[in-house]
Amino acid sequence: MTVSNTSHVCLIVTGGIAAYKAPDLVRRLREAGCEVKVVMTRAAQAFVRPLTFQAVSGQPVHTDLLDPAAEAAMGHIELARWADVVVVAPASADFLARLTAGFAEDLASALCLATTAPVLVAPAMNHRMWMHPATQHNLSTLVSRGVHCVGPDAGAQACGETGPGRLVEPDQILSAVRALRPGAETPGALAGVHVLMTAGPTYEPIDPVRVLTNRSSGKMGYAVARAACAAGARVTLVSGPTALAAPENLRVVSVVTAAEMYAAVMAEVANAEIFIATAAVADYTLEAPADHKVKKHTETLTLTLRPTQDILAAVAARPMPPFTVGFAAETQHLLEYARAKLTGKGLDMVAANLVGQPGTGFDAEENELQVVWLGGEQALARAPKAGLAHALITLIAERYRARG
Ligand code: PMT
Repeated sequence: MTVSNTSHVCLIVTGGIAAYKAPDLVRRLREAGCEVKVVMTRAAQAFVRPLTFQAVSGQPVHTDLLDPAAEAAMGHIELARWADVVVVAPASADFLARLTAGFAEDLASALCLATTAPVLVAPAMNHRMWMHPATQHNLSTLVSRGVHCVGPDAGAQACGETGPGRLVEPDQILSAVRALRPGAETPGALAGVHVLMTAGPTYEPIDPVRVLTNRSSGKMGYAVARAACAAGARVTLVSGPTALAAPENLRVVSVVTAAEMYAAVMAEVANAEIFIATAAVADYTLEAPADHKVKKHTETLTLTLRPTQDILAAVAARPMPPFTVGFAAETQHLLEYARAKLTGKGLDMVAANLVGQPGTGFDAEENELQVVWLGGEQALARAPKAGLAHALITLIAERYRARG
């Protein structure tokens, strides 16, 4: 895979056992046509010697912020200007925290602050450290600031435990660098992919003036749609009634009822590579909505409801389904119900949120997600919906690519 003949990649290696894989990454980047300069943190040097990177990169290795060999002794500025892409692989929990806080006490962190090049992090750490809310919050913050993230993978770890936290394979990092290189046609992890989405509530008419609906504002779905666009996807957003402005650069198909949403999705799905069901679709609709306003004649009023079609289940049941991501809004047993939806409906991924509590979920500015797929899960810590949506899209792109 050729990246570019002129791409300058600055690779920051931080301290973790996965540092032993970084020399192979350097080799692969060079094979792909990149010039690679390596920066090592002090902890990284405990795992791999700088001489190894010097040999594989064919360049001196940079370890000190105050470097007498650098022009004007400002190595971080020179490297920051030189780099077309800055890659941090492996990115330790500590380094992600320092990046989030904006520290600049060593060469690696100062370089990340000083550069205008895209920064790509490939986290690698023990799965509990990865799942810790502090690490997840740091990553959400970084992603919301425009830092790109690839991985981690789930599986057996060097510590003997199993879970998410393994450094992704060099090929995946190479693909991510490729999408960020100068002159890339469309930057981003979903370049050229058609993403079909649903968002917002549905209205099920009782009569011409009243509806059955729910508290969905559409904010989560619209944020996910924007993040997919920012990742280079071509997005079709099937939206129930919301008060939100239509996001730019994507096609919005406006619907009102669950039946209309079903029809709009089915009309588009054959061309979609990814389907994300963020909408809060009514599970029931009126058997027979009244033609005229229902008058207040009786003490009680009984409405007869029938189930709506499950859009998500119908998409997943297609012979050649797109990569299908469902949401799950639950008030209890979040992971248990999310996993049941994943396997019950045959989905590729479920993003589950707790609803019914203040500050997150329906009609809130922030949210918090537990994302599950077969063989893995990741917590996306509480963050503004825009930042969270970027983290979710990064994860969807990784799993979509991993499915092949
Ligand atoms: O819109 P906001 O105010 O920002 O709030 C965001 C949100 C809380 C609505 C969102 O994060 C969310 O959880 N959306 C899914 C809500 C929901 O209906 O969850 P559910 O557990 O009832 O449904 C499971 C999945 O099936 C969802 O992906 C839903 O879109 C889908 N579904 C449900 C019923 C149906 N008839 N067709 C469907 O496709």
